[in-house]
Amino acid sequence: MVKCTVRVPATTANLGPGFDSVGCAFTLYNTLTFEIKDKGVSFSGCEEKYANEQNLAYIGFRDVYTYLNIEVPGCHITFDSICVPLSRGLGSSAALIVAGATAANAFLKNKLTKQEILTVCNNIEGHPDNLSPAIYGGLTASFTNGDTPYSVSYSIHPSLKFVALVPDFELLTKTARSVLPSEIPFGDAVFNSSRLAVLLKALENGDKKLINLSLDDRLHQPYRRDLIKGYDEAESFAKELDCIAFCLSGAGPTCLCLTDNDNFAHKIKEKLHSGGYSWQVLSLPVDTDGAKII
Ligand code: HSE
Repeated sequence: MVKCTVRVPATTANLGPGFDSVGCAFTLYNTLTFEIKDKGVSFSGCEEKYANEQNLAYIGFRDVYTYLNIEVPGCHITFDSICVPLSRGLGSSAALIVAGATAANAFLKNKLTKQEILTVCNNIEGHPDNLSPAIYGGLTASFTNGDTPYSVSYSIHPSLKFVALVPDFELLTKTARSVLPSEIPFGDAVFNSSRLAVLLKALENGDKKLINLSLDDRLHQPYRRDLIKGYDEAESFAKELDCIAFCLSGAGPTCLCLTDNDNFAHKIKEKLHSGGYSWQVLSLPVDTDGAKII
């Protein structure tokens, strides 16, 4: 095989109390084609400033070969369709890294397991909470022990619908991490850890009352919300519309709503727009495939 096309889903991370751990994949995709060539790397369909060896899709590709001690071949990468918004807390970096690693692994006749792909990708980015759902699909929980990421999958009840409110500005993860404290009160750690264990079962059962109570956070949202102009209004609108739960997606600025109401996306879009916020509103069904050669 000298050419393949990979599709990788958008992902949320930090779901409620699951800071740096719980993520979920959505049916919103980046699609990239990789073609082996003699040497070097070249790109089509990619902004000039990203068309170089620092491109995350290339790094993911390269690092699979390096991990296996195989000489890295030349590669032409075509960005066919990029639907995951950049720097919005929907896993755009993870989607590119995983695309490159998945393509390289396909060229190498799937020598690596998904767990090994996760390890290679995590050495690049260090955020298994986005990488894991991008690779496996669905709802996952992960942590890194030493250099090795570990991940498990959970099911999520089909009545639950995610709606992302995507602001019209970027927020770099680095900036969003810089406002986090180095220590947190013991009570806040207990608040999150106790809710997380309950939330995962409540998501599986579709238990709206328990999701509403347990999908909450004291580790990052209180510190990051002030970075997001419109967060307070978006949260109020979501509550007025009876959403089951509201949280930051990843490091933000995207806000994520859980609902069982088919009209929720339409209604919150109207509220945001009449409040002067030209945010994108995306209904995001859960992706269960993860990264895939198509
Ligand atoms: N969990 C990370 C953070 C984002 O909140 O900083 C994951 O990409």
